[in-house]
Amino acid sequence: MIFDLAGLKASERQYYLQHVVAPRPIAFASTIDAEGNANLSPFSFFNLFSAQPPIVIFSPARRVRDNTVKHTLENVFAVPEVVINLVSYNMVQQASLASCDYPKGTDEFVKAGFTKEAASQVRPPMVKESPAKLECKVLEVKSLGESGGAGQLVICEVLALHIDDRLLDADNKINQADLDLVARLGGDWYCRTTPESLFKVPKPNTQLGIGIDSLPASVRGSRHLRGNHLGALANVHEHPVMQPAFDDPHLKQIVQYYSLNPDDMEKEVHLYAAKLLDEGRVEEAWQVLLTMG
Ligand SMILES: Cc1cc2nc3c(=O)[nH]c(=O)nc-3n(C[C@H](O)[C@H](O)[C@H](O)COP(=O)(O)O)c2cc1C
Repeated sequence: MIFDLAGLKASERQYYLQHVVAPRPIAFASTIDAEGNANLSPFSFFNLFSAQPPIVIFSPARRVRDNTVKHTLENVFAVPEVVINLVSYNMVQQASLASCDYPKGTDEFVKAGFTKEAASQVRPPMVKESPAKLECKVLEVKSLGESGGAGQLVICEVLALHIDDRLLDADNKINQADLDLVARLGGDWYCRTTPESLFKVPKPNTQLGIGIDSLPASVRGSRHLRGNHLGALANVHEHPVMQPAFDDPHLKQIVQYYSLNPDDMEKEVHLYAAKLLDEGRVEEAWQVLLTMG
């Protein structure tokens, strides 16, 4: 199926794009109007775009329904400052509540039951309950159009980052899992960064991975190794060589048991390598595969 975007209504475009461009982090944006009244609204059209200068962008779009603009957008024109509060699982229902179209002047801190905390460099208040908050200066608002659904990019320079002390270790490094952030997908779907859903993909920054095209043909063409397995194997920066000291009882068993049946031996060796790769044991997987030559 190919969707030609030109043939879709704005609401349909939004539907399809929001499901596939997902998950998206949520900027829970705190702003104030010219009189100093606070507003708090979630925006998942949001991301980090630059570290130097430190730039995040979120987009309070013109409403698809009636082409009106959001209070948050009016506020950043009046007072070009914002606090972006990141949303943890414990806050998600209240953050969603804050997205109701309350009349202008309604303080969603009160409506959604969050606690205001003074920021250090900007006037809008922070959400105390948020594990991480960005104090930002609005550099520019870039309108992407005048019709309903048109994004309005609020380009923000981050001046200060607040992090809950409990999320930092002795070296001030962040425990990613403890942040427990949530993200938005399509429709009513959200996801949560639980320890079970997190995993690491080691990326050699200084050295190049050998590449899938450099893997032995039998490994590249294996029916038992999937793309993630090949990707992990090909991420080493030098083609590994057999280590004489490598001694694996399970591999020995496979080799002995299937000594008269090379096809089955290859299958079992590949399945064993796949299991090791699933456990992140890349070096051992390479040694296992090298026994097949
Ligand atoms: C999790 C979540 C993410 C949202 N993301 C966006 C977004 O990126 N852009 C947008 O225009 N509206 C988004 N909305 C809807 C706004 O939060 C909603 O229109 C809100 O009422 C705007 O408030 P305001 O008029 O006080 O600024 C989102 C709602 C939720 C619950």
